[in-house]
Amino acid sequence: LPVIWLDDRLVPESEASVSYSDRGYYFGDGIYEVFRVYGGHLYEADAHYDRLERSAREIGLGLPYARTEIDDILRLLLEREHVQNGTVYMQVTRGVAPRSHPFPADAKPVMLAYCSDAARPIHMMQTGISAVTRPDIRWLRCDLKTLNLLGSVLAKQEAADQGAGDVILHRDGIVTECSASNLMIVKDGAVLTHPADHLILHGITRAVVLRLAGEQGIHARERAFTLEELRAADEAFLTGTTMEIVPIVQIDGLPVGVGEPGPVTRRLQQSFEATIP
Ligand code: PDD
Repeated sequence: LPVIWLDDRLVPESEASVSYSDRGYYFGDGIYEVFRVYGGHLYEADAHYDRLERSAREIGLGLPYARTEIDDILRLLLEREHVQNGTVYMQVTRGVAPRSHPFPADAKPVMLAYCSDAARPIHMMQTGISAVTRPDIRWLRCDLKTLNLLGSVLAKQEAADQGAGDVILHRDGIVTECSASNLMIVKDGAVLTHPADHLILHGITRAVVLRLAGEQGIHARERAFTLEELRAADEAFLTGTTMEIVPIVQIDGLPVGVGEPGPVTRRLQQSFEATIP
């Protein structure tokens, strides 16, 4: 059985259960991170820890461990499970307390972490996926990686019901991101993506791709764009920890550009590949 970090120790999966009164369960009152593991190492670990600490601070949650302690715990899990290529999931909830909305006076935050094997989504990366556009009904702090994911869950289920690979979300015609990844489009060789404000998650893959574009001499801008610009794009792709860079070749049943992964997407995929140790 896999081992899980729960609260203050490693336990076999069969013993990893939480209280019915955990605020994560009642309110989605907590935060999380998903890390990529390549060759047994956490990819962009510092960026994930920075974001974790920011999410915690912004919801007034004190993390139960310092960054170095969390890092030790995640490394221990990877060693124990011999995970070479996969993911680490971790979350911290505000802890166990009788159900009442305000922060409990004396609850102790509860951390959960485990790792799993996961192959890179090579097929999707090569052939691309389809997407459908939907209104972004999430709250106004999408920059926080919180456990409140019902907006993303409903969006992703709509995609599944439509037989599409993902959903592209928009607020009144301004494109934000996908259900669990960021979105970029390419027009006349230049990359466009929504600014890292409160309406999107500040994706770590997004930041890597923007850096790579700069290094490659590809013009990249963080600017909001409309559904019309999305429909007129030459290329579109999503970015995320587990997905890396996945081309979107069809949107609402219509081809993006020529309906195949485009040259800028390919170049960025190649440069991304080169950052994998
Ligand atoms: N999702 N936007 C949203 C809404 C996300 O949930 C994610 C990550 C991203 C991409 O961020 P990053 O490049 O840091 O993974 C963008 C994770 C993987 C998840 O919920 O499973």
